[in-house]
Amino acid sequence: MNLTLKIWRQADANAQGEMVSYPIADVSPDMSFLEMMDMHNEQLIDKGEDPVAFDHDCREGICGMCSMFINGEAHGPDRLVTTCQLHMRKFKDGDTITIEPFRANAFPVIKDLAVDRSAFDRIQQAGGFVSVNTSGNTQDANAIPIDKHDADKAFDAATCIGCGACVASCKNASAMLFVSAKVSQYSLLPQGKVEATDRVLNMVSQMDEEGFGNCTNTGACEVECPKGISLENIARMNREFLTASLKG
Ligand code: SF4
Ligand code: FES
Repeated sequence: MNLTLKIWRQADANAQGEMVSYPIADVSPDMSFLEMMDMHNEQLIDKGEDPVAFDHDCREGICGMCSMFINGEAHGPDRLVTTCQLHMRKFKDGDTITIEPFRANAFPVIKDLAVDRSAFDRIQQAGGFVSVNTSGNTQDANAIPIDKHDADKAFDAATCIGCGACVASCKNASAMLFVSAKVSQYSLLPQGKVEATDRVLNMVSQMDEEGFGNCTNTGACEVECPKGISLENIARMNREFLTASLKG
């Protein structure tokens, strides 16, 4: 396939960015999107030009690093996949593909397509964990019976990979789907209930401090989430937050 790539180029966080067009030839439909980007970068390097900066790590849909907005959609036109799992067979010979970074005030561009998502790390650090008793008297987690329905819901929430597609897809740049997945994965389990009140208050407070917008129930986040995280988690977090606020 012969394609045209229109890519956001921005030298650093403070530079003025712009879309730059590049032709690319002989792209195999069997390539992953990132393999196509690698090929493009090799061609830029051969010409002595600056390769396009983009985040990636696992390349198998696990790490959540490969944040790209492709033809106006987070992770491109396919559903329930990350950019690294997207294949060039989803495009046609002669297509122009527009590639931008995930855009949100809370995700500042570092360079080209790479954005700073450390706001998510700080939200996690505010409460996205279960404190561990290291006294030697820790109860074996497998000794606590858990309702299958709750275990399944907690597992579904825990599949969130922190990619940020929900934020990039939301007109308000809201992080509610991400935060609610992290809150839900613990609040549904007995081990997570102990710190549930502080967790939801602290994580929501950090989310607001980072400058993410609010949720207005548009649902774009759920549609674009590569892991199919459900809006049901936002409803659960809102209930938990209300209860915790009344207690607090
Ligand atoms: S909720 Fe979905 S879109 Fe948002 S960070 Fe988690 S996996 Fe990514
Ligand atoms: S590179 Fe890890 S999810 Fe895409």
